[in-house]
Amino acid sequence: KNIVILISGRGSNMEALIGARDRGDLPVNIAAVISNRPDAKGLEIAAAAGIATRCLDHKAYAGRDAFDAALAACIDEFAPDLVVLAGFMRILTPDFVRHYEGRLLNIHPSLLPSFPGLHTHQRALDEGVRIHGCTVHFVTAELDHGPVVIQAAVPVLDGDDEASLAARVLGQEHQVYPQAVRWFAEGRLSLADGRVRVAGEAA
Ligand code: GRF
Repeated sequence: KNIVILISGRGSNMEALIGARDRGDLPVNIAAVISNRPDAKGLEIAAAAGIATRCLDHKAYAGRDAFDAALAACIDEFAPDLVVLAGFMRILTPDFVRHYEGRLLNIHPSLLPSFPGLHTHQRALDEGVRIHGCTVHFVTAELDHGPVVIQAAVPVLDGDDEASLAARVLGQEHQVYPQAVRWFAEGRLSLADGRVRVAGEAA
């Protein structure tokens, strides 16, 4: 299967996917990595790994519709089976989301539906929750609300601060995202009537 990864920054989840592919654990062709920020660190990592990179600076477009149309055109040149959002920090238009229905994944650093949006780790600390984590989900028009594919939980420990909790969650992100993409690549992961199905898993 062909995948395209969208990033905006550091790109550690992208790196985890590249690593899994390199180890033979992820049977995909990473056709391209696309960033909306020219300075995204992940672009250098992708290029060094020999992956095609593109940058579409959202600031160069008149608005969300224009940017998303250009982004979709850029993505579709690579004819991906799956588009993987990995720290892509742009809200996507309903048209864009519809175009990739059932083949657009995101990773979010909380146990959805808790803590959609930004600053999830600090908000988890402020709420005093004892369990936190991350979620891979199919993208729908509502931000951070799509059908859940896989989640990982981590404990919130006494003395945690935002950085320590974020690091613990990130370690889990790097496990579950390759797992979700592997399910897709193996043809086991699908979305039907808004419900996720992972074939081969006990019902
Ligand atoms: C991750 O925490 C991801 O869950 C969130 O943004 C962060 C991106 O990190 N959507 P990286 O760019 O993959 O290192």
